Amino acid sequence: MKKGRAFFISSLFLPVRLSPLKMTTAMLENAHPLWEQFRQELQSVSSLGQWTQLRDRYLSRQRGLITLEVKKLGRLSAEERPSAGQRLNVLKVQVEKALENHYQLLKEQERFRQLQSERIDVTLPGYYPRRGRIHPLRRIQREMEEIFMRMGFQVALGPELEWDYYNFEALNMPPGHPARDTQDTLYITENLLLRTHTSPVQIRTMQQQPPPVRIVVPGKVFRRDAVDATHSPMFHQMEGLVVDAGITFADLKGTLEAFLKELFSPQTRVRFQPSYFPFVEPGAEVVISCIFCSGTGCRVCKQNGWIEVMGAGMVHPKVLQKVGYDPETYTGFAWGMGIDRIAMLKYQIDDLRIFFENDVRFLSQF
Ligand code: DAH
Repeated sequence: MKKGRAFFISSLFLPVRLSPLKMTTAMLENAHPLWEQFRQELQSVSSLGQWTQLRDRYLSRQRGLITLEVKKLGRLSAEERPSAGQRLNVLKVQVEKALENHYQLLKEQERFRQLQSERIDVTLPGYYPRRGRIHPLRRIQREMEEIFMRMGFQVALGPELEWDYYNFEALNMPPGHPARDTQDTLYITENLLLRTHTSPVQIRTMQQQPPPVRIVVPGKVFRRDAVDATHSPMFHQMEGLVVDAGITFADLKGTLEAFLKELFSPQTRVRFQPSYFPFVEPGAEVVISCIFCSGTGCRVCKQNGWIEVMGAGMVHPKVLQKVGYDPETYTGFAWGMGIDRIAMLKYQIDDLRIFFENDVRFLSQF
């Protein structure tokens, strides 16, 4: 192998990245015919795939058009060879440079296309997740709790699964007491039941602390009732209990009247009618002037002008005795009301069942 040839072949394998090549006029005039051909083909290269094909077509080590030209050099005479070699070398550097530039261009175009396709219009309105809402019963419950808390009450809770003792016996309803029948009880065992009211939490609270007591007790209660527009085997009550030295029926009236005027409206009139509950003496039924017709008579109050909202009374001395409070020193009052019923009144809902069906069209209105 001749020395000159070896020089040209090794120069073919220069790295692809080259420093910019300054082309002199002489070089351009002396340009290899393949240059013009290459330039035209390069113009139609619009993808990286086509680019690779073109590169291999000219520079492939086996059959590249330029490689083939280099191989032909060996057939030239010693005088022709250096200038022809020089010309080919310039061609190769030019081609490599042009390929490199074009490659950068294609890359840039591709990046631009990608940015375009991934473009985000930050001025478009976003997708809002559907937000949950507080259930109307819970809303009313909280509203009621808040009114009482502002009056100095604390919220107390108790178990839904309750002993007969707390649900009945300690509340002055010993076994066989007729009042037990008015609360259709769901028994688990002979002594264990689903509480029929929130009143047992009165006992649990008093057992745990000395007077004064000032609590409200929201919670679920259960009765063996068939479902209809005004009955459900599970519903909600809010109990209240105040015990201290010197508490009178006037405190009961003042407290409950203030609460009802706050919950409904200052115009609401409140009346206390005699009633009976074994755990209070005297017992009362609390009624308010109809919040829809103000007492003139309508469908809601059944033309009566008044609506019953709770049972209440002065805590029976026997109940105080059961928890070890001295009824000679301490007196108190208690009440119990249906949260569901109050919610029906406040939101003008005439069918209790709708609270438990979880129809979003209904729930989303609150
Ligand atoms: N526990 C009674 C019921 O569920 C309601 C009640 C009446 C509670 C009078 C009281 C009360 O605390 O004093 O029917």
